[in-house]
Amino acid sequence: MDTQPQTHDPYALAARLSGQHLIDGRMVPAVSGATFDILDPATGQIMGHAAKGDGTDVDVAMTAALRAQKDWARMPARKRGELVAACGRKLAENAEEIARLMALETGKALRTESRVEAGVLADVFVFYGGLGSELKGETVPFNPDMLTVTMREPIGVVGAIIPWNVPLMLMALKIAPAMVAGNTVIVKSAEEAPLTVLRAAEIINQVLPPGVMNLLSGFGPDCGGRLVAHPKVGKITFTGSVETGRIVTRTASDKLIPVTLELGGKSPMLIMADADLDRAVAGAVSGMRFTRQGQSCTASSRIYVHEDLHDAFVEKLTAAVDKMVMGDPLDEATDIGAIISPEQFTKVNRYIELGESIPGTRTHRLSRMPTDPRLKDGLFVQPVVFTDIPADCPPAREEIFGPVACVFRWTDYEEVLAAANNSEYGLAATVWTSNLHTALDATRRLDAGFVQVNQNLVVQANLSYGGNKSSGLGREASLEAMLEHFTQKKTIIFNMT
Ligand code: NAI
Ligand code: MG
Repeated sequence: MDTQPQTHDPYALAARLSGQHLIDGRMVPAVSGATFDILDPATGQIMGHAAKGDGTDVDVAMTAALRAQKDWARMPARKRGELVAACGRKLAENAEEIARLMALETGKALRTESRVEAGVLADVFVFYGGLGSELKGETVPFNPDMLTVTMREPIGVVGAIIPWNVPLMLMALKIAPAMVAGNTVIVKSAEEAPLTVLRAAEIINQVLPPGVMNLLSGFGPDCGGRLVAHPKVGKITFTGSVETGRIVTRTASDKLIPVTLELGGKSPMLIMADADLDRAVAGAVSGMRFTRQGQSCTASSRIYVHEDLHDAFVEKLTAAVDKMVMGDPLDEATDIGAIISPEQFTKVNRYIELGESIPGTRTHRLSRMPTDPRLKDGLFVQPVVFTDIPADCPPAREEIFGPVACVFRWTDYEEVLAAANNSEYGLAATVWTSNLHTALDATRRLDAGFVQVNQNLVVQANLSYGGNKSSGLGREASLEAMLEHFTQKKTIIFNMT
């Protein structure tokens, strides 16, 4: 594939990428020729358009991915890894360009979010690139006259369906391990954010053989649904809503193919009376992902603060969020950008209005709306902290996926643990305390896939990540995810008698 010069003009880049899939190493329009518009959430203007894929495009991509998979799987695993790591280095060289396009396309601020995510994209490829020779099997003591071994083999073609909130990182966590394990991939991007991942795919295709990494854009049921339903797809890995996760799983279960699901969350933060208040406040600001407009499955959106610290915590938290600057995502001064789409904007505002209407609930609307006239039609929502909100109302129980945190006061440890676990979700949780015993006890008893004490780190390439209950099925990231989710085990017995 041709090397395109790096450009820091995201508008020019969006124009060049518009209307294309990436199939078999080439940029191609949809077979139907159809496209759809992509919104710049910060201005309300159309910033580009994407190829509108359907079942025919899925067929074309599948033919390429199936053909490429044979040679790809025959390549020594370590060599595959070297190529995936080389993708990572090339993505790192182009990170600024990718980050600027991401800021334009998704409304995520360049300094606080988009640049960070572009770095993580490259890092995930470099990490998995080093794991090619870790695709080891076992020898099994079975019978002295027989040699019994297991081997890890690729599944075939993996379908990866990704959302718009952290599309680069989530794409990387799916496809890098899948490819190192010898699979080829077809990614279906989210309709709100197809171009940034397409630029990443273009760079990846400068390194990998054609057909190993294919990317389609299109709508959920018409394109994603057809990928899941395709008779030749060997596995689906999905991140998105619980509702769509169920649909995907139903189709996959009829076909008896494996799925990995990373779904929603309503993650609790437990702040004990002996917690370091300033650290907990900083943890709430980062954990709630206010810089990402709260659009995170891991967002610490239920914050339980011990009565002794509650008022001081609320004062410090609201002061910290109030200082954050909301504005043009491409401006270096901006902390908080815009909400991705009119649908999400409406959904988030509905939850805020609902919370506000509950008697006794206090609503803290923070930061300020941008004043730049260019942004007057942008999808900006002031961050909201609700206090004294009842635990059983929808804003306190349901995933809002917006900059809205609920703070609850508590006095009884057993009650607060039960409240934290009383959720359909179980993705992440954090505990804030200076007492080791409390930390150990709470981490053991919290029903979540990712639990941290006195910190709120984001997903790391080498740590298993995923949810309990409705938050998902299986785990992503880490060596184990590559072995468990992108290979199948073969047992081989040599009878030497
Ligand atoms: P969604 O689950 O509908 O979309 C995620 C991906 O699935 C997109 O690529 C979409 O095109 C695809 N998709 C949709 N319908 C499909 C189908 N029938 N078959 C195959 N693929 C399909 O999520 P959406 O509409 O973007 O957001 C709705 C809510 O979901 C958000 O408000 C949020 O609460 C949650 N969400 C959670 C995410 C997470 O990180 N766990 C990411 C995005 C959304
Ligand atoms: Mg949807």
